Amino acid sequence: MLSSIARNSVAASGRVVATKLATRSLAHTPSFHVNTPDNTPEQYFDFTEENYGRVKSILSKYPANYKQSGIIPLLDLAQRQNGGWLPVAAMDKVAQITGVKPSRVYEVASFYTMFNRQKVGKYFIQLCGTTPCMINGSEDIKQTIEKHLGIKNGETTEDGLFTLLEVECLGACANAPMIQMNDDYYECLTPATMIELLEACKAGNPPKMGKWGSLPMNGQVSCEGPLGKTSLFETPAPPKVDPDRFKDGNVDPASVKEHMAY
Ligand code: FES
Repeated sequence: MLSSIARNSVAASGRVVATKLATRSLAHTPSFHVNTPDNTPEQYFDFTEENYGRVKSILSKYPANYKQSGIIPLLDLAQRQNGGWLPVAAMDKVAQITGVKPSRVYEVASFYTMFNRQKVGKYFIQLCGTTPCMINGSEDIKQTIEKHLGIKNGETTEDGLFTLLEVECLGACANAPMIQMNDDYYECLTPATMIELLEACKAGNPPKMGKWGSLPMNGQVSCEGPLGKTSLFETPAPPKVDPDRFKDGNVDPASVKEHMAY
């Protein structure tokens, strides 16, 4: 629930404004915006020309009267353009492009944890601390990171390279303990391989993902068992989607499920 200060700030102007609250650590990011020197609604944000091509492509996936469906991919694009975090000026730009009130975009950005509304380091480490990772040594991994980088949970190194944040399950429990660094998963970690990974990042050369889009740091290919078998015996069929579903432009909400091939 928003604090009374935040509620008043939103109600008074219809948009998020500065409050005098101190910025809290990233682990407890408030659901309301707090102005900081590098993050105010008055600052300038616009997509690059190249990204405007992507904006066009994203919006073309939705009917003209459902532009707001593009809010999440557009926020993601803005965050990537802005070095991994999402200033309020970028949210305002997305609101302008999708034709909605800024508060509609703020409520999306503050709901999904994939959006970082405070500045993060070049390598944003999200460390899973949920039960399977915890019983497989995530606390050791956390202490290793904290000691090696000289930061605590929720903090960023002075050189702006690393931010550490403990999070809940990231869905790679079979290869616990693990971290997500920016878009990538590093799994089956030990304190030694964690340090190896941090040093590789400092050298600007983080290890590439493995064949299946993650990197178990113990030599596994994926989350195979000791015999290397998987549970799939054939390639699953792709979902059926009609590629011409929006060719006529607007879609009647009454038939939207049909158009989406549900
Ligand atoms: S418990 Fe760590 S990924 Fe699920």
